[in-house]
Amino acid sequence: MDMTSSAVWFAIALLFLSVVVTKIVSGRLITSDRRRLPPVVNGLAMLVLVPIFIRNGRQATIQYLHTKFGSVFTISLFGLKLTFLIGPEVADHFFQGLDSEISYGKIYEFTVPMFGQAVGYGIDSTTQNEQMRFSSDSMTPLNLRRKVEPMLQEVKDYFSQWGEDGIVDLKHELKHLLMLISSRALLGREVREEVFMEFCQLFSDIQGSANMINLLFPYVPILTNRQRDRARIKLIEILSEIVRSRKLSGPVGDGDMLQKFMDSRYRDGRSTTEEEIAGLCIAIFFAANHTCSHAITWTAAYLLSHEDCLTTVVEEQKNIIRENKDRIDYNILSHMHFLHRCIKEALRMHPPVPVFLRKAHMPFTVRTKQGDQYDIPKDHILASPTILNHNMSYIYKNPQQYDPDRFGPERKEDKIGGKFSYTSFGAGRHACFGEAYAYMKFKMIWSYMLRNFEVKLLSSFPIEDSRKFVPEPQGKMMVSYKRLR
Ligand code: HEM
Repeated sequence: MDMTSSAVWFAIALLFLSVVVTKIVSGRLITSDRRRLPPVVNGLAMLVLVPIFIRNGRQATIQYLHTKFGSVFTISLFGLKLTFLIGPEVADHFFQGLDSEISYGKIYEFTVPMFGQAVGYGIDSTTQNEQMRFSSDSMTPLNLRRKVEPMLQEVKDYFSQWGEDGIVDLKHELKHLLMLISSRALLGREVREEVFMEFCQLFSDIQGSANMINLLFPYVPILTNRQRDRARIKLIEILSEIVRSRKLSGPVGDGDMLQKFMDSRYRDGRSTTEEEIAGLCIAIFFAANHTCSHAITWTAAYLLSHEDCLTTVVEEQKNIIRENKDRIDYNILSHMHFLHRCIKEALRMHPPVPVFLRKAHMPFTVRTKQGDQYDIPKDHILASPTILNHNMSYIYKNPQQYDPDRFGPERKEDKIGGKFSYTSFGAGRHACFGEAYAYMKFKMIWSYMLRNFEVKLLSSFPIEDSRKFVPEPQGKMMVSYKRLR
């Protein structure tokens, strides 16, 4: 080979090599360009948000950030990194990641002085998961069927006290009825029949401590926290006394949750202690109570202000009565499809958990609807805003409109964006196991009420009380009722 041909070959090889290297490098550049850290909303940009938040509230503020920064962005404030993941496309790891990768972190620490050190976030995660299993086991369809009769009895007894006609605050009425039902179905005959009023007072002192201050400083020595601590001690005493008396008399047959907790065993064979049973009862009662009263009151507001929906619900009840007479049982309740959709739609528009929070223990990657990938670093606090996710117009048609039919078999809008499009009951690893019980309870109350009374809304449509932990309808909800013949 002469010098000229060597030079030509060298030039070709060099050209080849540079093309390959360029491709690799540009490939990397494209990858690293499309996979990057989320855009950051810094302290200065946050100042712009203050007037938006004051004027238009939480949802409008997150919406503003979503429009400006996209589906994934990080708010950086005083060293804290809060990353928003907006839309079902970026929610997969958030809901399904292992607890070792992503968890509640210390978010629910405020519940320790409410429920005690023996349960929930007062203990290690393995024991906590086992206790969660005890609770979810008692919500299986078989166990729920057993609860229908005592729950229905409560509903009948309650409405038997209403007169021929009258005016009531439906929000208050429904809250009280839910307390009666839950005390019977979850805690059992003794609490319901012997200590109900005392229980309600003590529970209200515990529930009253679930406020924004305690989310950050749950042990600050203020009056509400002293009342909470006294109430917890007394409640644990009352419930432990019931446990001791049942141990002597033998199990009670209503299939209540307290008995389930007593009968539960840890994997190593250990039984539950009195303090654990009492703590679990308070925790479950809390999880069930505030979410359910929120859901049923919003359903009332929407149903009673949407005549077309109310007429369809009443028609559905008439059809069911034609087939089953006055009977209400587990199967009949599960055939109240339109009523189910009305409740589901109220919860879409007013999810009791407006923003889900987690902490990342390991880095992970998300890919947005537009195809952008973001690396989410370890130790970021993560937020998945249900209030925005439930209002995506590419998933829900006219999302601001109350339209229960969107969940009907023809439209199934909640399936359009995948399994994280509708998260009123959470999703994935920590999804709510009380959903079926909650729907059963709501349908029982609504079907019984509408079969026996004509109800009309007198108050104007309520606004959301966003000062509350779970944003409920503000003020009273006055209705007139007339008993049907
Ligand atoms: C309308 C009624 C209800 C709604 C909307 C609701 C909503 C939710 C949501 C959104 C979560 C997930 C929280 C998160 O991922 O951060 C959750 C979890 C939970 N819910 Fe419900 N809930 C309701 C009723 C109930 C009832 C009746 C019970 C019990 C009888 C219950 C027990 C629980 C428990 C124990 C968890 C924690 C699950 C876990 O961390 O693994 N809920 N609920």
